Formats: sequence, C-alpha cells, structure tokens
Amino acid sequence: MTGYELGFRDLTEEVRDRRLEVEGRLPGWLDGSFVRNGPARWRTDDAEADHWFDGLAHLVRFQFDDGELRYTNQFPRTDAYRKAVGDGSFAGQFSSSGSYLGKLKAMLTGDATDNANVHATRLDGDLVALTETPNWIRLDPERLTYRGPLSYDDELTAHHVTAHLQRDADTGEHWGYFTKFGRTSEYVLFRIPEGTTRREAVARVDVNRPAYMHSFALTRNYAVLVEPPLITHPSKFLLPGQGGFIDNYDWKPSRGARFRIFRRDSGELVEERRVSPFFSFHTANAFETGDGEGASADELVLDLVAYDDASAITDLSMGALRAADGGFPSGELRRYRLPLGAGKASYDRLAGDVEMPRFSPESHMQPYEHVFAQSTEMTDGNALVRVDVSTGESRRWEELGVFSGEPVFVSRPGGDGEIDGVVLSLCLDTVGERSFLLVLDGDLTELARAPLPHIVPFGFHGSYFPSH
Ligand SMILES: [Fe+2]
Repeated sequence: MTGYELGFRDLTEEVRDRRLEVEGRLPGWLDGSFVRNGPARWRTDDAEADHWFDGLAHLVRFQFDDGELRYTNQFPRTDAYRKAVGDGSFAGQFSSSGSYLGKLKAMLTGDATDNANVHATRLDGDLVALTETPNWIRLDPERLTYRGPLSYDDELTAHHVTAHLQRDADTGEHWGYFTKFGRTSEYVLFRIPEGTTRREAVARVDVNRPAYMHSFALTRNYAVLVEPPLITHPSKFLLPGQGGFIDNYDWKPSRGARFRIFRRDSGELVEERRVSPFFSFHTANAFETGDGEGASADELVLDLVAYDDASAITDLSMGALRAADGGFPSGELRRYRLPLGAGKASYDRLAGDVEMPRFSPESHMQPYEHVFAQSTEMTDGNALVRVDVSTGESRRWEELGVFSGEPVFVSRPGGDGEIDGVVLSLCLDTVGERSFLLVLDGDLTELARAPLPHIVPFGFHGSYFPSH
C-alpha cells in the first residue's frame, strides 16, 4: 500500500495555536475544540517500542471559533516521555518484551506507565488523557501541556481500566470498569459523579480468569461488560521472565464470549449471556427495547465491532503495521440482541471491514439509525462510512491516497435528527504527504478541510468539547 507507512513515522515537531488555512467552509455554529489522542513516537536514540499501542502519547487540538480554525499539538511531558526521550530509553515503561500488556506487569510491580495515549475526556473541569492503566493525566485544556497525574478521590485499587468511559448526559456521571488482579480477581463497575474524581464502585464480580476487555455498553438502566475468551491467570504477570500481552493472555474459544448485564441502580448482576466466541475492542451504541421503562425492558440491543479471534491484537505490532503488506485487521459491525429473562441471545451482521464506531451523542442509549466508522479496507487509502443499522445500507466518503481516522460526530445545537451535524476526522494525505482535518456533513459530503504543518501518525480516539 503506497504511503501507508507514513502513518507510523515518528513525529517530533510541536506547534502551538497555529492558524490553519481552511479549504471550503466551516459551519458557523461549530464553536468548540476537538481533541484527539494517540501514539506518535515509537523510537528514541536507543530504544524502540514494538507495539503500536506503546508509542508516546501525543494530543492534537483543533479550536473552532467563528469560522476560523487553530491547531495545537503536544507530547505531554509525563514520566514516560521523560524516560523515553530524556534518558534515551523506553526501559521502565514497557516490559522487556516491549509488548502491550507488559505494562500491566510493570503496574503490578509498582511501575505503571503514565503514557496516556488512548482517549481524552473532561473530568472535574479538566482535560484528561486516558489509558488502560489507572495513571490518567491532567492536561492544560488549551496548550495540552502536562499538569500532573489525575488523583482519585477514593480508596479503590485498579489495575487494568477501560479508557472508554461513557458519560450519561442525564446524570452527568461517567461510567466505566476496571479489573483488579489478585488471588481472586475482580471486575469492578464504577461511576464518577459529575464534578469529582471519585470512582464509586457500583458492582463487583469475582473472576478466576479475567479477560482482556477494552470497552463496554451502557443503557439507561443497565451496564454490560463484554467479555471475550481472551483470558489470563493473574499470577502470570508476577512470574519473572514472563513476556507481554500474548504470552500472558490465552485465547480460549471453548469458553465463548459473555455479556454480563448489571442494573445500574442496584449493581445487581441480572443476566450472564454466553454466545459464540468473538473478540472486540469497541462497542457502538446500546439501548433497551420493550413496552415499559427500565425494569420492564424486554431486551438490550448492543452494537459492537467483532473479530473471529484475538489476532486483531497481534496484527497491530509495529513490525506487522510497517510491513509493506500490512493492514488493519478486519472486524464486522454486529447487532446483538440480549433478552432480559427467557429467550436466546442472537446477532445480525450489519457491515464488514469497519472499526472505530461512533454515533451522534444525542442518540446515546436510545434507538438510533446511524453508525459512523472507519473502513478497514485499506488500499491506497480508506473510507469513512455511515452504516444504517436497520438496513445495513451504507454510504461512504473516500479519496485516493487518503487514510482517514476515527469519525467523531458533532451534533448541531438545536439540530433536527441524529445526522444533523458534522463528522470530524484527522486524515493522512499520502500523496501530498501531510495530515489534514476533514469536516463532513452527516451525509458524508465534504464541507471543509484544513492541512496541518506536519504528518500526525495514525492515532486512536478523540472528543469534541463545545465552548458553551
Ligand atoms: Fe479504543
């Protein structure tokens, strides 16, 4: 694939509040900032990270104001950054094997990384960069500079944490879960009340063989852990000489995948649904159906991107990605129906070759029609798609030589329906050898693009924060 390797080339340049030329026209109502996180540097003088997920955290910020666009990018000067760049070594952050959950081993031995390169959100009035260790960091919301570790106003011990918090707009709470490893390990479902950094445990489940879980599902009354049969025994992390992710986690398809369904109000585990094995990083939306509200819901509808097995993780090593025949693993968008009470869980395939599913924030936890996603069909570029979850029909935006990133949907204030807004995506133009911010309308028609002064490597997740 031509130019694909540019998306894994190290970036070192940082710029602050640079005005970008806009080709096309930005909607006047777009008034806020789009922040995206991701790894952007894998090499220092003497060291190299092996896995895409292990590159140094790098955040970009696009500030929309009255039709103008300003750009800032920054590597937060965390301990991980200073050790990697200052000392010329990745040692201490990553396992000796350099692989992804080697970080967990370091964490259990008291040396967790603060390389928060996965997602961005706002907590307690601050911009926070998230990763899968509890070492989240606070950032200056404009300059993106490092303000220090996020300290939690609680006594909970977490080891592996989701970076995909979900905010309930009705209550202002953020919801998430973590795994605590031990003789008996635990999954802990928690909420963070608005305006705090206090994780309140809502539910705890003992598990002998905890699974690797990346995101979860939330409906008005339920929270669902999605547990693929990619499992570990925690003692493996503590044994000297053990390797990283793949050595510590085993794919056990005979266990099947499990949905663990909790009531949000009581924390009660009301259902465990076992289904055919799959691996998943990302859920899309979820909602309840049925005549009644809450407790009388008939079933949960849960959309996610599924893979046949856990090779989706090994396929993301830097060696595989930088190889000429590299490419992203191919997942399919599925709609699972999980009955509450009698009945069998089932799923429909909605679309193939997609990742990074997003949807209108206005539709969160409600029946909805449209998932926006990145196509993982990558030949001289990849498309952004919009999938109609009722019919499976899709439309797409694509341009030869352009690789597009996660499509973040921003609703127009006072808008009419779930596609009244814009899609923001940080793209790589491999022909022009530059990145640009792409702005599409809800039908995936281009409204504007703004070239950046450099190439930003392929990254992970972002959030849009309105100014008002
Ligand atoms: Fe993710």
